[in-house]
Amino acid sequence: MKRTTSLLRLLLILMGFSLITAAQDLKPIPLPAPQTSGGRPLMQVLHDRKSTREFGPAKLSPQTLSNLLWAAFGINRPDGRRTAPSAMNMQEITIYVATPDGVYTYDAKANALDPVLAGDFRAATGTQAFVKDAAVDLVYVADTTKAGANPSPDAAMYNAADTGFIAENVYLYCASEGLVVVVRASVDKPALAKLLKLQPTQAIILAQSVGYPKEPATPSAQH
Ligand SMILES: Cc1cc2nc3c(=O)[nH]c(=O)nc-3n(C[C@H](O)[C@H](O)[C@H](O)COP(=O)(O)O)c2cc1C
Repeated sequence: MKRTTSLLRLLLILMGFSLITAAQDLKPIPLPAPQTSGGRPLMQVLHDRKSTREFGPAKLSPQTLSNLLWAAFGINRPDGRRTAPSAMNMQEITIYVATPDGVYTYDAKANALDPVLAGDFRAATGTQAFVKDAAVDLVYVADTTKAGANPSPDAAMYNAADTGFIAENVYLYCASEGLVVVVRASVDKPALAKLLKLQPTQAIILAQSVGYPKEPATPSAQH
């Protein structure tokens, strides 16, 4: 009996430990300050912009992730306006970031990642097999309440357009930095919304996969 009680106590301690570990995993993660100068000349970047659907295994460093997210939709002026335009400056798009470690939302003001889920949910961000191989999968989610009580008939178009500007910023950053990327509409939106515990007022617009290029096979590997 005494032994059973001790075992039970040990089990409870271990369970408590794993809960504490999970809670620690879900703390906001501060990002390094984004490097907002440099990059390749714009016309060369436009020349190289393209979609790629094959990814190498390398992860993004915290610095590269910070730079990527700032380029995507970071704050670039003291009044809080962003690197991408948004209809009526609604700033209604939140970027969900699925990494091998967890899913986070990008907090541009705090320059941090706010945890949503612990674990690797990259595969759930799209219906295509390659999405699990990307270093990060971005999911663009519109907060439809930002359109106000009487939304314009064009509100859905604004959400799509605003997402498009962010996604293009990501394409250009990737072309500048030698990263590969593809924007995606092929997403199981109801399943992903459930996984991310989205509210009915939050709408998934698009997703985008980003990573390092897959190394070409070496000549010896081809034989
Ligand atoms: C709104 C939108 C949705 C897209 N959805 C997907 C998608 O679900 N899967 C995919 O592999 N590519 C997707 N793409 C990428 C296009 O297929 C790609 O941009 C197009 O083939 C032109 O190639 P390029 O980007 O290299 O110029 C999408 C592009 C846009 C703009």
